[in-house]
Amino acid sequence: MRKLLIVFSLLLSHQGVLNAQNRDQPMAKLIDAQFKFAEQQYKVLAKNVPADQMPKTYYPKTGKSENSGTGWWCSGFFPGTLLYIYEYTKDEELLKEAKARLAILEKEKDNKGTHDLGFMMYCSFGNAYRLFKDPAYKAVIDASAASLATRYHPAAKVIQSWGSSKAWAGPVIIDNMMNLELLNWVTEQGGDRKFKEIAVSHSNATIKNHFRSDFSSYHVLDYDMKTGDVLKKVTAQGAADSSAWARGQAWGLYGLTVMYRFTKDKQYLDQAKKIAAFMLNDPNMPADGIPYWDYDAPGIPNTYRDASAGAVMASALLELGQYVGKTERKKYLGVAEKAIRTLASDAYRAKAGENGGFLLEHSVGSLPHQSEIDVPLTYADYYFIEALHRYKNWYL
Ligand code: GLY
Repeated sequence: MRKLLIVFSLLLSHQGVLNAQNRDQPMAKLIDAQFKFAEQQYKVLAKNVPADQMPKTYYPKTGKSENSGTGWWCSGFFPGTLLYIYEYTKDEELLKEAKARLAILEKEKDNKGTHDLGFMMYCSFGNAYRLFKDPAYKAVIDASAASLATRYHPAAKVIQSWGSSKAWAGPVIIDNMMNLELLNWVTEQGGDRKFKEIAVSHSNATIKNHFRSDFSSYHVLDYDMKTGDVLKKVTAQGAADSSAWARGQAWGLYGLTVMYRFTKDKQYLDQAKKIAAFMLNDPNMPADGIPYWDYDAPGIPNTYRDASAGAVMASALLELGQYVGKTERKKYLGVAEKAIRTLASDAYRAKAGENGGFLLEHSVGSLPHQSEIDVPLTYADYYFIEALHRYKNWYL
């Protein structure tokens, strides 16, 4: 019975996508409406989160919000999204909120127990520095890069993602490509050259080891950090070791595109284009641009979509579109626009005051762990709002 209900509600939500896509609304109007909605909605979210915590998710079935400490890998997304919304709306209340959250996050600059410092400190302090050029923000970013660099293993030429355990000797996940923007940026701003060198080495090892012949990627590679040998290629959050976990594909696409931005090395551009081709041509990619939680998920089409994977993909394709010829740009822009319109439709975008104050519904954290299934997530909101900025700044 529960299964039947899930199938029925998934079918209904797909129908919603088709009915409510606002296909013809000009993008400038659509983007403006999303920012105006976000301006009010994030005030609701802020009220749901104690001053010493960060939002994590909200469970629509029970009406319960879940928050986290600043050590959680997602802690940079809330201040980052507030700053992006402030950038468009100039709403001082949001800026005040962002600054208060940055203040509690700052201490994570010295956290050497996570590889997620790019997500945590660049999506937050990176945006703060971009907007205000305050040297205090830059100092936090610089310290964060130094902390992240301590996780680099010179023999294997990769940054270790998670700690070693019985399950893994030296795990590196495709998500780790997202933490390299921080390292590149610090070097580019006159910091130590070694940060960019680490980003390049990690990217080269990732291209060599993490991808399959169809340019989909594995989620977790276990490295012998003394030799660089790959011990196993498996998954943690995907449907199977051999499957294409949707958010992982999007992280890879985004990360390689960023590597091209900083290096202009064509191998990164080529790899990003091949990842994009895998995503766009996969027969399981829905026409509305929002992937299932895994491209090889059992039960497609009667399984969950992942709004976060769609948002990350859209934002990445918009940047990749800047580096390619006219024909490819048109293709990437078309898919990104489709995904944005779908996310902005009733099928994914929350109603004012609902959804715990988050913008988007229907993301999947980790289905194999039965964690955060079909719920809002901070990073879905962040990359959706980033994609709106990118579309406005680069394509309007
Ligand atoms: N980096 C963890 C995730 O994408 O779920």
